[in-house]
Amino acid sequence: MEAKTSAEVSKVSKLAENIIGSEIIKLAAEVNEKIRNGQHVYNFTIGDFNPKLFPIPAELKQAILDEYLADETNYPAADGMLVLREAVSKLLKERASLNYAVDEILIAGGARPVIYSIFKTLVDEGDTVIFPVPSWNNNHYSYLNHAKQIKINADPESNFMPTVKHIKPYIQEASLIALCSPQNPTGTVFTKQGLEDICDLILEENKRRGEHAKPLYLMYDQIYWALTYGNTQHYNPVSLRPEMRPYTVFVDGISKSLAATGVRVGWSMGPKLVIDKMKSLLNHVGAWAPKAEQIATAKYLSDLKRYDSFLALQKQKLHQRLDGFYKGFTQLKSEGFKVDVITPQAAIYLTIQFALHGMKTESGQVLATTKDITKYILDEASVAIVPFYAFGADENSSWYRLSVGTCKTEDIEGVVTNLRKALKKLS
Ligand SMILES: Cc1ncc(COP(=O)(O)O)c(C=O)c1O
Repeated sequence: MEAKTSAEVSKVSKLAENIIGSEIIKLAAEVNEKIRNGQHVYNFTIGDFNPKLFPIPAELKQAILDEYLADETNYPAADGMLVLREAVSKLLKERASLNYAVDEILIAGGARPVIYSIFKTLVDEGDTVIFPVPSWNNNHYSYLNHAKQIKINADPESNFMPTVKHIKPYIQEASLIALCSPQNPTGTVFTKQGLEDICDLILEENKRRGEHAKPLYLMYDQIYWALTYGNTQHYNPVSLRPEMRPYTVFVDGISKSLAATGVRVGWSMGPKLVIDKMKSLLNHVGAWAPKAEQIATAKYLSDLKRYDSFLALQKQKLHQRLDGFYKGFTQLKSEGFKVDVITPQAAIYLTIQFALHGMKTESGQVLATTKDITKYILDEASVAIVPFYAFGADENSSWYRLSVGTCKTEDIEGVVTNLRKALKKLS
């Protein structure tokens, strides 16, 4: 056998060798390069908050400092501090009508380790995972598990939420369905009927499999559930169909509801057997939330009226921005430009469309691909947004995510004006 040249030898595992970084982080790097070069960019790419515009609750900040001063600096309990699991249990009961006992809840360092451990606990190599596209990072978690990925193409007619019709053909081979509502990147939610239909399909499939087979599980990511606007309602599988309880594992936490993305407190609730295994797994990763943050979060959540007031203001601030852009895009559309927008329902995202494929710039360049369009909008309007293909959608999809967590309200008008100018130059 011939020896491999050093260029052919991988110095790391095959898994690491082939890991793909986040598309959004790549795009953000391009944007930051422009900013470093002195250009002003309206950067709406990152699903995060500017803490100067959206600080965490003052009482939470103080409580975190207090716990460090009280020397709460050693290992937290492996499944999370009991006070926090109690507080989460109460929050879920009183604000989400979900009944989970403290031993059915696992605390982790944000939602990511929760998702990682759900996949590791439920998905074997070669198992099938079904998830919609666009959606957030399910492709990466599937990859880490060597899973077969079935991507369900969701379309604007269903607000980019997956439907039972799309899922049904693959249901018998699946080990896990990964859903998210309110959804990143679309800022839309499941309708009651839409989610009920999917639950019924899962229940029917588990009946078919019988008691002795590995069931089909649902990972339900509701990290944005507290951020809904207007008449929008958040639904969850277990409240709609209590029989879904043994098959549903939730992803949840404070990262988005309390604008606390850097505080790193997340949790999961689900069947005790699954939660116990996730705990054992995470124990080896050590992806716990820091002890001081856990106790502080428990203290903050002990007063749900205060939590409600914070959320009411937070939602008002976020909705004002989403609605401002929604109106701006509706106006551009009414002026005849090839843009579109979906009514914002939840989270910090707006779904917008630039149907500009094939149009010509002033210099005669044809916008042939979505990448060309993204670059044109960035160069000409100084607006950075993430194309849906970064969330697994088709390369040529003309839909985008605009994130408002870093947006100043006074910028909205300027953005719409810039876009109008850029769109006018196309023929
Ligand atoms: C749908 C969804 N789930 C989970 C996460 C991760 O949250 P965390 O920051 O708590 O890890 C994100 C972050 O953007 C998200 O959009």
